[in-house]
Amino acid sequence: MTKINSNYQKLQAGYLFPEIGKRVRAFAAANPAAKIIRLGIGDVVLPLPAPVLEAMHAAVDELGKPESFKGYGPEQGYDFLLQPISEHFKSQGADVAPDEIFVSDGSKCDTANIQEIFAVDNVIAVTDPVYPVYVDTNVMAGRTGEAANGRYGKLVYMPTTAENGFDPEIPKGPSPGSHVDLIYLCSPNNPTGAVMPRSSLEKWVAYAKATEAIILFDAAYEAFITEPGMVHSIYEIPGAREVAIEFHSLSKTAGFTGTRCAYTVVPKDLKARNDKGEQVAVHSLWNRRQTTKFNGVSYPIQKAAAAVFTPAGAKAIRENIEYYMENARIIREGLRAAGYTVYGGINAPYIWLKVPGNSTSWNFFDKLLNEAQVVGTPGSGFGSCGEGYFRLSAFGFRENVLEAVERIKSRVKP
Ligand code: MLT
Repeated sequence: MTKINSNYQKLQAGYLFPEIGKRVRAFAAANPAAKIIRLGIGDVVLPLPAPVLEAMHAAVDELGKPESFKGYGPEQGYDFLLQPISEHFKSQGADVAPDEIFVSDGSKCDTANIQEIFAVDNVIAVTDPVYPVYVDTNVMAGRTGEAANGRYGKLVYMPTTAENGFDPEIPKGPSPGSHVDLIYLCSPNNPTGAVMPRSSLEKWVAYAKATEAIILFDAAYEAFITEPGMVHSIYEIPGAREVAIEFHSLSKTAGFTGTRCAYTVVPKDLKARNDKGEQVAVHSLWNRRQTTKFNGVSYPIQKAAAAVFTPAGAKAIRENIEYYMENARIIREGLRAAGYTVYGGINAPYIWLKVPGNSTSWNFFDKLLNEAQVVGTPGSGFGSCGEGYFRLSAFGFRENVLEAVERIKSRVKP
């Protein structure tokens, strides 16, 4: 009989967001008159900005004419998109060449797939709490061992809590003196909303260089940074090109959660070792993986994405980002005034609050849903150090955000 990949049976419960969706649907079915406000999954609500939409329309029309029709495109992305992305990096002080960029249909997929090109016996380090995709895909690949009390035996967890300012410490390795091979970092962080300071990233780059580790740096939320002087790309740090892969997304930045467009940078300076101990360029492996398993993002979507990097597109998406960050401010300040302990929401579209009393994150989820009809995300869904915390997303219409804050203030007092 056919056997399954038994690693799937090591996965804990369902994927977080479908589980939330299931609970919300059950509540809605039982309370059909309830006006539920969804600040759970970080999904954008504002429509695509005009310059982006115009570019997409024009590209669709091109596909309708024999002289401008396009079939397969380059798997890595069209040059008309790679060039402006590379220039955008340069404007941030990061040296990234167009042929080091791989356009894709999402940084969820890329952060999920990247582990495939690395050996199964690599030691993985993740923050706790963490974006669940990093963990689950390594479980599926067989790198984690079994879970006990919400933690996998072979993963190295780096707690990020209020106590350490949500800034992960360099891991000591699975046992004293040993080291980790692949390190997932996310800044601005999902779920905590914290940004890693430049000084920390310098330490991480130095550590990775010294131990031949690779940093998988998820910068999907970099466009939401509002404070000056913060690091937007790890390649702003000298030496990072030799130790880091970076993930970017247009999902939240430009409203592409439905249309799908992201990009990943694999610098040509990045090397890892094969079984014989020889150095191999990681870029060529990822290129091989993508050209085998992926046929690129559709032409109209890449045209729309290129418009994001024009002056008109950049201005339009900036306005949308400011709208969401004003939502973040309203949630953060509103809940703080109500007596909640609140983090994040300044350089990221997520507010990370301390669950009042001794309630668990899931109990608080149910309380908020039942008493205020507001949906958030339980912190424990991101890892055991997320227990006792709760995430609210700033992606909502202003009137809903204002109403959600009022309802929480009046009905769910800390
Ligand atoms: C989230 O809410 O954490 C995100 O929407 C998940 C994702 O981007 O895949």
